[in-house]
Amino acid sequence: MKPPRKLHIKSYGCQMNVYDAQRMVDTLAPEGFVETADVDDADLVILNTCHIREKASEKVYSELGRLRTAKDEAARNGRTMSIAVAGCVAQAEGNEIIRRAPVVDVVVGPQSYHHLPQLLARAKSHGRALETEFPVEDKFGFLAPPKPDAIRARGISSFVTVQEGCDKFCTFCVVPYTRGAEVSRPVGKIIDDVQRLADNGVREITLIGQNVNAYHGEGPDGRIWPLGTLLRRLAEIPGIVRLRYSTSHPRDVDETLIEAHRDLPALMPFVHLPVQSGSDRVLAVMNRKHTADDYRRVIDRFRDVRQDIAFSSDFIVGFPGETEEDFSATLALVTQIGYAGAYSFKYSPRPGTPAADMRETVSAAEMDERLVRLQELIDSQQSAFNKAMIGRTVDVLFERAARNPGQIVGRTAYLQPAHVMAPAGIIGQVLPVKIESLERYSLLGELAAAAPMQPAFAEMKSSHVAPSNITTGA
Ligand code: 5AD
Ligand code: SF4
Repeated sequence: MKPPRKLHIKSYGCQMNVYDAQRMVDTLAPEGFVETADVDDADLVILNTCHIREKASEKVYSELGRLRTAKDEAARNGRTMSIAVAGCVAQAEGNEIIRRAPVVDVVVGPQSYHHLPQLLARAKSHGRALETEFPVEDKFGFLAPPKPDAIRARGISSFVTVQEGCDKFCTFCVVPYTRGAEVSRPVGKIIDDVQRLADNGVREITLIGQNVNAYHGEGPDGRIWPLGTLLRRLAEIPGIVRLRYSTSHPRDVDETLIEAHRDLPALMPFVHLPVQSGSDRVLAVMNRKHTADDYRRVIDRFRDVRQDIAFSSDFIVGFPGETEEDFSATLALVTQIGYAGAYSFKYSPRPGTPAADMRETVSAAEMDERLVRLQELIDSQQSAFNKAMIGRTVDVLFERAARNPGQIVGRTAYLQPAHVMAPAGIIGQVLPVKIESLERYSLLGELAAAAPMQPAFAEMKSSHVAPSNITTGA
């Protein structure tokens, strides 16, 4: 048994990075690494970076500046602090990081996390190590699965990567370059992962992928399974009461997915379906390969089978050449669809993407102004959606003790946090809650039925951060 060493991971960006961070922890656990929240105390610090929007790499360099001070301080105290840069900035700018930041010991791209132990050893013997290849082997087969106590510590909701990468090449997006081509994990491996999580108290699974509904994994029957078929199989696993998936692309919504929403009570009626713009002209230049009407039709197909379904989306304002008329089409689409929430971003040119070379840029002032208008509209839709919960009785999956003593917090089907006064024994259960009021984004209510005790979950401590952001992609 090697002596324990302390590991601190700082993750930026999407859910995929949150999940990857956990897998890095699991992969380094057999090497004797245990997590610490205190960066100054760490023997290894990993920056798990994001490259999707503006200033990503500047943020990494300024964080590395701070880490240099921490590393020097550790050295003065006779300790060695190693620093690794992982994630999409590592993938996109690995050589540059090695050149510009001598403080960095290891640079590792997202497809190589299973090689972390070897890379650390190589850095120790050779000074530095860099790996940003896309290795041919399936990294998932090599990443260590989490141990039961790690699963329990992470709480009752878990991400599982089912697909990674993207072949769509939207002209603004770096994902196809940083995460590579689309790869789907085999069904059997995903079932094993979900089974292991369920056996250790996980009740909710969010399947993640940059283009999750492009999933086409090999099934145990030798056929290629689409996402809807995978969801149907996972819904049979005892203990799994909620299933979600993120992020999906409008073009990959097939009948199996619609039918899964029709038939599976465990599949939550809340879908993140980014559209980016409501203007057909902009959608074409973005290479989205669908029109605003195609998107409306996809939404209608979901609504036809599940009346209580709600949607969120991503929008980009100020894409090169976006006119006031194009932007109005986006506002019109938002008004027409009616979202439960959405993320909107100012366009940011990403080096190496086709849109970065487009000349007709939108001024910063115009972008700011459009962003404010769009966000006001989305905020008003989100608050109306949240307010509509008041007075209703809705199912809540309880996750953990809240900050207020005696309160337990869970999530509705639409990921709204909901607080009740109740015994900790309800953690891990789905119970009906009568919603009484709304405080900012949180619902407050009362259990609508007496809670049966399940002590096994009462003991579960949760450091889990429930999904608050979207998966990068689609
Ligand atoms: N500029 C602004 N927003 C972007 N996104 C992706 N690339 C860019 C970019 N270059 C947004 C998209 C995507 C979300 C994850 O990030 O809206 O859906
Ligand atoms: Fe792929 Fe989504 Fe990026 Fe488009 S926006 S290239 S679909 S990850």
